[in-house]
This record gives sequence, C-alpha cells and structure tokens, in this order.
Amino acid sequence: MLRNTEKSWGLVSFLFHWIMAALFLCQFWIGWYMQGLKDLLAQYNLYQLHKSLGFTILALAVLRVIWALGSWRPAPPASMPEVEKQLSRGSHFLLYLALFVLPLTGWAVVSTSPLPIATWFFGLFVIPSLPLGISLHSEQVWTSIHGFLAYGAIFLVAVHILAALRHHFHHRDDILMKMVRPGFAGRKDSRIDKN
Ligand code: HEM
Ligand code: HEM
Repeated sequence: MLRNTEKSWGLVSFLFHWIMAALFLCQFWIGWYMQGLKDLLAQYNLYQLHKSLGFTILALAVLRVIWALGSWRPAPPASMPEVEKQLSRGSHFLLYLALFVLPLTGWAVVSTSPLPIATWFFGLFVIPSLPLGISLHSEQVWTSIHGFLAYGAIFLVAVHILAALRHHFHHRDDILMKMVRPGFAGRKDSRIDKN
C-alpha cells in the first residue's frame, strides 16, 4: 500500500503528487498576485509566504525524486502508442525539473536583489542567499527567467491536466483513477487495452 507496484501508485507517491500539485498551484497564484498589491505589509507577508512555500517545494522535490528513483512506476496501457508514452515520460520529467528550477531561480532573484530583505522560512529562521553578484541588472534578469519558467510550467501543468482528463473521459482507461486511489491496480474489465 505504501509503495508503488508495476500496476499501481502507492500511498507515498500519491501523497507526494497531490500535496505538491496543490502547493504548486497555490504558489503560482501567490507569485502572480503578490506583485500588484498596494498594501506593503500584505505584500511583504505574501512574498515571505511565496519564498517559504517555494523552499518547501524544493525540499519535497528532493525527497520525491529519491523515492521515485527507488520505486516502480505503474506501466502505461499496452495499447498506448509509443510516441504518447514518450511524450508522457518527457512531460513528467519536465514537471519534475520545474519543481527544482523554479525554487532555484526564485532563490537567485532574492539573492541578487540590491534590496536587503531577509528570506524568513515561515518566520522560523533566515535562509542565506546564494553566492551571486548583487545588482539591479542581475535581479531583473533572474526575475525574467523565473517568471518565464513559471508561465511555461503552468502551461505544461494545464496540458498535463487535460491529458489526464482525456485518458479518463475519452480513452476510459485507469490512468487517472490510479493516481486518485492509491493501491488501485486497474479494473479487470478495463478498456485499457481496447483503446
Ligand atoms: C515552485 C516554486 C515557485 C513557483 C511556481 C513560483 C512562481 C512565481 C510566479 C508565477 C511569479 C510571478 C511572475 C510574473 O508574473 O512575472 C513569481 C514571482 C516571484 N518569485 Fe516565485 N515561484 C516559485 C518559487 C520561488 C522561490 C523559492 C522564491 C524565493 C526564494 C521566489 C521568489 C519570487 C520573487 C521574489 C518574485 C517576484 C519578482 C518580482 O518582484 O517581479 N519564487 N514566482
Ligand atoms: C488537478 C491536477 C492534476 C491532475 C488531475 C494530475 C493527474 C496525474 C495523473 C493521472 C498522473 C499519472 C500519470 C501516469 O500514470 O502516467 C500524474 C503524474 C504526475 N503528475 Fe500530475 N496531475 C495534476 C497536477 C500536477 C501538478 C500541478 C504537477 C506538478 C507541478 C504534477 C506532476 C506530476 C508528475 C511529476 C507526475 C509523474 C508521476 C510521479 O512520478 O509522481 N501533476 N498526474
């Protein structure tokens, strides 16, 4: 139940997926919303929350990859065309990459900023800056990279969600249900190999 099998996602992968999916979507919304705030105290607090959640995502991403490297992955339906299998693997790899690259480029933004604002992790301790040169120009460059990658990642997430819905409603296979019910190895009468 805890571990994946050749046919099902276990509880650990299930929790990693859904907790990080929720964190990622909240994080994207906060990043988009916080910049336009007029109330400076609320803006400061949201920036700190954005940074804290970003580091939480980074830490979870490290644990998730370690877990994934030692785990089975449920095989895709045999009837799925090879090119779709490769697209699915490629897009999962890019989603994993985004969970590392976004926090790291965000960290670069605050590390290069001439504004001396500390990064508090949920108000508990200060996270040091990366050893990067401080200048307005570098901050602007990293901000553009961070923003560009964030919008790229949310586009990929949208495609990912549409693909999951397409499998469920159009192909009527068990790919989505397996991620919704940990331990579920597929229906016996599944149309999985008929589409
Ligand atoms: C998965 C993690 C993250 C996601 C999805 C994310 C997403 C975003 C988004 C969508 C924006 C707005 C971009 C725009 O409209 O141009 C943004 C801005 C920003 N992010 Fe992140 N971010 C993440 C992690 C981090 C981390 C870890 C930090 C810092 C330690 C950070 C620092 C910032 C800063 C400072 C800005 C505002 C830049 C400005 O004022 O223009 N982000 N982020
Ligand atoms: C409502 C939103 C979402 C739905 C319905 C969804 C659905 C799914 C499904 C059905 C799978 C299994 C695919 C397979 O077995 O081939 C999957 C895997 C995956 N999803 Fe999502 N997903 C959502 C959001 C997200 C978000 C926001 C992210 C990351 C930013 C994400 C990252 C991943 C990754 C990396 C995998 C590969 C499996 C793993 O190693 O955990 N998903 N998703």
